[in-house]
Amino acid sequence: MNNYKIAVIGGDGTGPEVVREALKVMAAAAQKFDFKYETVDYDFGGARYLKTNEVLPASAIGELSTFDSILLGAIGHPDVKPGILEKGILLKLRFDLNQYINLRPVQLFDERFCPLKGKGPEDINFTVVRENSEGLYKGLGSFENKGTKDEIAIQISHNTRFGVERCVRYAYEYARKYGRKDPKQLTLCGKTNVLTFAWDLWERTFNEVAKEYKDVKTAYAHVDAITMWFVKNPEWFDVIVTDNMFGDIITDLAAMIQGGMGIAAGGNINPDGVSMFEPIGGSAPKYTGQNVINPLAAVAAGAMLFREIGEDKAASSIEKSIRTVVTTKIKDLAAGKMGYSTTEVGDLVVKYL
Ligand code: IPM
Ligand code: MN
Repeated sequence: MNNYKIAVIGGDGTGPEVVREALKVMAAAAQKFDFKYETVDYDFGGARYLKTNEVLPASAIGELSTFDSILLGAIGHPDVKPGILEKGILLKLRFDLNQYINLRPVQLFDERFCPLKGKGPEDINFTVVRENSEGLYKGLGSFENKGTKDEIAIQISHNTRFGVERCVRYAYEYARKYGRKDPKQLTLCGKTNVLTFAWDLWERTFNEVAKEYKDVKTAYAHVDAITMWFVKNPEWFDVIVTDNMFGDIITDLAAMIQGGMGIAAGGNINPDGVSMFEPIGGSAPKYTGQNVINPLAAVAAGAMLFREIGEDKAASSIEKSIRTVVTTKIKDLAAGKMGYSTTEVGDLVVKYL
């Protein structure tokens, strides 16, 4: 029997509450599908930082690399200046564990939860493959004449052929394996008309790699236009590949059309190493400890984690149960409006496994 090791970082705000429900569901699914896992908790986050003045202990990366996978709740604390925890924990883990793909499936389960008029589950079902290790997130740049009226702030988008190509290849493979359209379709989302260095590299790489994936139909959309299409014609999309910054932006919009942050999950993936799965919604400090936050995004992150470690059946079973709970039980996906508490929603997913 497989016995996995999963690191759990509950993190800040409602992170620990939603992770608890995810683990409840995962434990039930593991039992059902006959595999085991052990968890080790890590207290990384704002509270620990405020107590110890240390964002991440030096041993963290080394220790986390020994796990099969990582489940993360949320990082972000109202008493810590924005950027410290995000960069010091979340982005550091993504970079240092070489999780170079940010995978964000976007699926609407029930028309009731879609803010777009006339769109249903058959229209909103695509995946964004976001590059997760380069671009503007690389943190390169400088100030000149800081604090003067002649100040210049430079922020560099750093794109390597190696980094772009491995991301694009992952996206083609993903489209081939999981694309839902016939033929499978991969859209490059960029800005070739203005950002003519970065997107020239991306476009060339995208078109060159395409030759090895003749079964995948390719398309291109500018990032500004894609925000329009997400609202007007989301059914056009199957798999989308884009850079770190554009991926960050378009996946918040995508989360809204699938029903909001309560349901949106993502994976930070190192295909050859340790990946980390998270609800993408953040720490929602005002709902902390009230048992009202929607745990389904975290539960869905748990399902993605199981798929990544090879437990496909358990993953699919959790996803099916989420769908049942969303379509037949839940009144609203937003915190406090579900008609059930956080823990009750977790129980419901267990019940319908
Ligand atoms: C996300 C978040 C992070 C990002 C922040 C918290 C650093 O917005 O996962 O999308 O920008 O990637
Ligand atoms: Mn984001």
